[in-house]
Amino acid sequence: MHQEVLEYIQKNRDRFLEELLCWLRIPSISTDRQYREEVLNSARYLKEQLAAIGIENIQLIPSEGFPVVYGEKIINPALPTVLIYGHYDVQPPDPLELWNSPPFEPVIKDEKIYARGACDDKGQVYMHIKAVETLLKLNKLPCNVKFFIEGEEEIGSASLPGVLAAHKDLLQCDTILISDTSMVSLEQPSITTSLRGLAYVEVEVTGPNRDLHSGVYGGAIDNPIFRLCKMIASLKDENERITIPGFYDDVKELTLLERRMLAEVPFDYANYLLELDIRATRGESGYTALEQLTIRPTLEVNGIWGGYTGEGSKTVIPSKAYAKISMRLVPYQDSEKITALFKKHFESLAPPSVKVEVRPHHGGNPYISDINSVSYRAAAAAIKQSFGKEPIASREGGSIPILAEFDKVLKKPIVLLGFGLDTDAIHSPNEHYGVKNYFKGIETICLFYYHFAILSRN
Ligand code: BES
Ligand code: MN
Ligand code: MN
Repeated sequence: MHQEVLEYIQKNRDRFLEELLCWLRIPSISTDRQYREEVLNSARYLKEQLAAIGIENIQLIPSEGFPVVYGEKIINPALPTVLIYGHYDVQPPDPLELWNSPPFEPVIKDEKIYARGACDDKGQVYMHIKAVETLLKLNKLPCNVKFFIEGEEEIGSASLPGVLAAHKDLLQCDTILISDTSMVSLEQPSITTSLRGLAYVEVEVTGPNRDLHSGVYGGAIDNPIFRLCKMIASLKDENERITIPGFYDDVKELTLLERRMLAEVPFDYANYLLELDIRATRGESGYTALEQLTIRPTLEVNGIWGGYTGEGSKTVIPSKAYAKISMRLVPYQDSEKITALFKKHFESLAPPSVKVEVRPHHGGNPYISDINSVSYRAAAAAIKQSFGKEPIASREGGSIPILAEFDKVLKKPIVLLGFGLDTDAIHSPNEHYGVKNYFKGIETICLFYYHFAILSRN
């Protein structure tokens, strides 16, 4: 079966690439209202591609935001069912001037596909479509398949829990398979075993009711930007520990064994510094950089603004200051609980000279995989067969907000079988995806179905 799969992929190589490039030409930027129609075009393209390979019961499931593209191939209700999740929306490409070629005019250079969404997540979703095509054409699909591809992942998947709840029966499955993460390298394959959650807030600090002359009023009137900076600075202590009371209460420390497993993931510290052009990292004391990046919670300021930032100078005490703050969460922290703790603490930091408002944005809970599940073992077996090497378990710092919700509603194991590389520049200029990763991914996914079907029988 492996041989036939490889031959089919080889024979259809150019078309498999060309179809992906067509999808990458659609600027499906979910966060930007101006691109609304393009996001819908991305969903429509996906729908056509599913129809073209023989997927049935295809629908655009409406939501409060962008629709979910659903489709299925039920071979036999007695066979196990795999639900594929991914997203057809992308991040904005800004800053445009840093791209070597336009973000929505994909090019293949040095064996890499350059475009926004090439890796995150269109390239990785498309591998699944081509894997199912391959198996259907060879008459070798051993499982039922359901596709569930959303259009709001990059903006927090806010309307997805509603869709999940309303279509629980339609989405019944035995496992959820997702390619929206990275692997260590093509030489050292890996499976992601946990992702962090997220709590995102915006804060507004208000001083006087209008901007004031900084000479006439300066000295007695509190400056909201200065106050905001102090409040933010106090959120971490000298060991880079977050000072919000209760923040670490639900964090489960890793066992020694788990820390050892994580330490097996190759991490070239010197090269990491070099690549980012920094002299040192700085994170929570007592943890390695890799741990700080994956299994420890964080608090970041994503943006801060206020006052006069135009050309020249303006002597002013601003009335308002703002910041966007995000916290990455680890098992078993809860996004809503952390948001509430943040709000209470941040409000308590404000002296009487300013008012503070905390506005929660989106969030999502962390997820940790069961490495003993049938589908995890099937993924490991598939990787071993396609890469010729056993995968290691790695943990990652990013988030897929809907994971915990899948866990809650469908109660089935999720396997994070990603083929991206950390160097693929997702969310950055010049995002790319290795042509090799793309085809290895298709091959491995085909093998996954085979192993999943066999292991499910025992
Ligand atoms: N695919 C990423 C998440 C990811 C990337 C996980 C690399 C592991 C490795 C996803 O599209 C993403 O960017 N998620 C956002 C979620 C947010 C917008 C709610 C994130 O992590 O910031
Ligand atoms: Mn993604
Ligand atoms: Mn993303």
